[in-house]
Amino acid sequence: MRIPEETVERIRQSADILEVINDFVSLKKRGSNYIACCPFHNEKTPSFNVNPTRQIYKCFGCGKAGDSVRFIMDIENIGYGEALRYLAKKYGIEIEEQEQTPEDLLRQNERESLLIVLNFAKTFFQETLKTTDEGKSIGLSYFRERGFTNPTMDAFELGYTLDQWDALLKEGLRRGYSRDLLEKAGLILVKEGATGGDNKVFDRFRGRVMFPIHNVSGRVIAFGARILKTDKNQPKYLNSPETTVYHKSQVLYGIYQAKQAIRQEDVCYLTEGYTDVISLHQAGIRNVVASSGTSLTTDQIRLISRFTPNVTILYDGDAAGIKAALRGLDMVLEEGLNLKLLLLPDGEDPDSYVHKIGADAFKAYIREHSQDFIDFKASRWLTEAGDNPLKRAEGISDVCVSITKIPDALKRQTLSQRVAQVFHVSEQSVISEINRLLRKQHDQSKKDSERQQRTGDSSGRKPAMSPGSVPSGEPSLDDINSLLDGFTPEHPDMDFPAEAVAPGKFFTDERTKGVRAPLSYQEEECVRLLINYGVRELEPGITLCQYVLSELHDIDFQTSPYDLILTLFREAYSRGDILTASNFLNRRSEASEWPRGAEIQNQAIHLTTPRYEISEGWLKHEIFVPSEEEVGILADAAYRNILRIKKLLAEQRMATLQQLLRESGNKSPEEADQLLTEFMHFKRIDIEISSLLGTVISG
Ligand code: UTP
Ligand code: MN
Repeated sequence: MRIPEETVERIRQSADILEVINDFVSLKKRGSNYIACCPFHNEKTPSFNVNPTRQIYKCFGCGKAGDSVRFIMDIENIGYGEALRYLAKKYGIEIEEQEQTPEDLLRQNERESLLIVLNFAKTFFQETLKTTDEGKSIGLSYFRERGFTNPTMDAFELGYTLDQWDALLKEGLRRGYSRDLLEKAGLILVKEGATGGDNKVFDRFRGRVMFPIHNVSGRVIAFGARILKTDKNQPKYLNSPETTVYHKSQVLYGIYQAKQAIRQEDVCYLTEGYTDVISLHQAGIRNVVASSGTSLTTDQIRLISRFTPNVTILYDGDAAGIKAALRGLDMVLEEGLNLKLLLLPDGEDPDSYVHKIGADAFKAYIREHSQDFIDFKASRWLTEAGDNPLKRAEGISDVCVSITKIPDALKRQTLSQRVAQVFHVSEQSVISEINRLLRKQHDQSKKDSERQQRTGDSSGRKPAMSPGSVPSGEPSLDDINSLLDGFTPEHPDMDFPAEAVAPGKFFTDERTKGVRAPLSYQEEECVRLLINYGVRELEPGITLCQYVLSELHDIDFQTSPYDLILTLFREAYSRGDILTASNFLNRRSEASEWPRGAEIQNQAIHLTTPRYEISEGWLKHEIFVPSEEEVGILADAAYRNILRIKKLLAEQRMATLQQLLRESGNKSPEEADQLLTEFMHFKRIDIEISSLLGTVISG
């Protein structure tokens, strides 16, 4: 079953890369391109790039790249045909193709088949709700009673399932979906019969109103089903089991209907239930999702962070709601998001409360009663503590525990001022408390990992040193020596043979005394790439110059005259120009006007000479040699050059910190902690770059 070629073409023409990707992650304009944190791998600074002119995307972090169709295939984990169908639906393009036969289904992968059969089930439940007597008299009147309008029911594709054993099973089989597929989709149950007897096969959901659960792109991946009669032996809500397409810890109910509003309002309201999402949506508050049926997970928080860094938790004001809010609180902070909390009056959930007071009053209530987590926790503790200083201290400690979860040290610092104000204590005492907790957490995680090692974890790697498992607490002072002993710069200055010293008189830096600093090689290489190939595109729409300058935006070179040349490129680029060799070489060019013009020109001649010499020393530094006309090779050279520069800078900084730490005897523990935190930061960068460069990590 093929999609006609001309339809494929129409779909490709209509599918704008920005629109398509914006459904999954919020893009920000950067120059002529758009950037975001990559939806394919976990990162905190954006390396995902979209080029609207070329209609392509590329992640400089994980390497994923392609066009609109490829993006949908990758993000939804579906095949080419299904991706085209997704885009056709989004752009209202009709695909004339025959109904799928079971053979067609067999050819598709399991994921696609499940999505198709789940979509069938959703439509069947919707029709049952609207067209059968039972659906209308029971399901529809229930929804009406809850105040849901037709557009609301349509937006959430609500349905009803008859109170029979096999309504869906029969219709599914009639349509050619296999029993196996229906079972894998979580729609039917198969109970083994007694020996010799037949298996019993029946619908999982019977006599319930159906809430389809959509993924980010609007495909139905599961159902929540609410019972209508009062039956103590049955759960109020019955949910689909985990399937190939439904992992409940990764899904937020309502994300598809909410994502646009979340982006616009730049905040996501997090509730507990299906009806909370639907009722608020109907009241015009559309930036709402629910963790439905699970307590909040890290994956769910990351899903929100694709659209906004701001989360407000709206939970019931009862004990259970508060407990749930407190549990979610630390997790949201740990992911680096900004958090507010709002408790509703006891006994109310967002659904009941918005019906009670109306949309406008509800919005006002959110505005007036949202608290940040410090106020939220503090108000609870301060009421309880009264004059009791011990309780008060306990409260401060409790708030500080949450602060230690925040990954950004600067944010932690700012918040300690707030805690001091709220609890009327000195900021210093708050900072000490935070540091004490960080140390404690670290000791704990150290103990845990030691225990793990004793109980035969054979990975043999220090968890604190592997980039994948950054410890949640920062290391303690006790650890300084073991950490520092593990650190040897990979490029100690003296490691370079004399022949590696390049000609030229620009290396007069006192420290190096004639021995060239490793960084200077990489700076020279970078400048050479810029002068020779700055205008070349590494990726469609991304010039080498743009790539290098954006990577080095906060870095200055240390070696003259490369520092000057880099600045010249920067200045030109900010005017929209990319300098080329001729800017440097032409005697009558502006170059002669530049400060130290002659020196720069000499250097440019050296760097653009085709017989640019390659010594063993250059090879040792893995600097790229001239067969670089091919784009792939050039891109790789630029990429590795940038990584090496960053690695050398990290090593440099670590050496300085190491020195400072060795002298830390005469510093306060807080200062030493700060240094160590910074050291760890660079160590992580260093390890990460090593693994990107494929360098073996020692120790
Ligand atoms: P609630 O019991 O608060 O339900 O559970 P609700 O959303 O207010 O629903 P109504 O108003 O009674 O219809 C909150 C959420 O917890 C999950 C559901 O996602 C529900 O929306 N839940 C609850 C279950 O998964 N199973 C249950 O048995 C109960
Ligand atoms: Mn309710």
